[in-house]
Amino acid sequence: CHPVNISQAMSIILKTPEEIAKMRVTCRLAAEVLDYITPFIKPGITTGELDRLCHEYMTNVQQSISACLHYQPPGYTPYPKATCISVNHQVCHGIPGDKALKNGDILNIDITTIKDGYHGDTSRMFIVGEASIQARRLCDITFECMWLGITQVRPGARLGDIGHIIQQHAEKNGFSIVREFCGHGVGAAFHEEPQVLHYGKPGTGVMLKENMIFTIEPMVNAGKPDIRQLADGWTIVTKDHSLSAQWEHTVLVTATGYEVLTLSAGVQPKPDWIR
Ligand code: MF3
Ligand code: CO
Ligand code: CO
Repeated sequence: CHPVNISQAMSIILKTPEEIAKMRVTCRLAAEVLDYITPFIKPGITTGELDRLCHEYMTNVQQSISACLHYQPPGYTPYPKATCISVNHQVCHGIPGDKALKNGDILNIDITTIKDGYHGDTSRMFIVGEASIQARRLCDITFECMWLGITQVRPGARLGDIGHIIQQHAEKNGFSIVREFCGHGVGAAFHEEPQVLHYGKPGTGVMLKENMIFTIEPMVNAGKPDIRQLADGWTIVTKDHSLSAQWEHTVLVTATGYEVLTLSAGVQPKPDWIR
């Protein structure tokens, strides 16, 4: 996810067929890193070890590059790890380290690969052992929020349609949407225009066109929407220390609707009540 800016220069890159072919490859690789790491997520393993395993897999098996490692947007220090792993009340950009996972933790692993110059960006929630009903519900509703957003995608729809349906579903279930970070265009650059807000009004905002590619990655808090950045300059946490969840796919606007690019053998399918 990307910090929301006031300014929007309005140059959204429409991808060529060649670029779309490269995006399909890098996005599948990002999803496959998440498939690979899934069986390692157990009580006792540290987030640093998960990061090391992901990075090793990307480097040695995929020959892909982590877009996160040393990434330095304006005003930030270089990001020190290959993945983002955000546990419990961490919203996003959690830095992997020597903290061991314990039964009942929920965590997001966010992978961004670079392959052949193009970025694939996806994240999933994982539950360590058995989590509370509340924690599981937060993960499930956030997944539904992402998919409700994805199903709005087609030429002629507006970004506000996506934001609105996500916000409505989260708030209807008693949760709140983080406002300071958003989804984003993605391609040869990690973060491109447009900014994809996870709240908004139907019929407002940028109109979608065929061959746009962007992420949808709602961050949903169990408590209040307010967030705080830790002194490490990266980790975002909920101010009230309530749990937070996030899921992310990279999506292509097709002639008739959408194509989710971050698919893999182990990906969780769209909930069947969403059409
Ligand atoms: N992958 C995140 C996103 O969805 C961005 C992570 S930037 C990092 O946009 F530097 F923290 F890795
Ligand atoms: Co992203
Ligand atoms: Co991401």
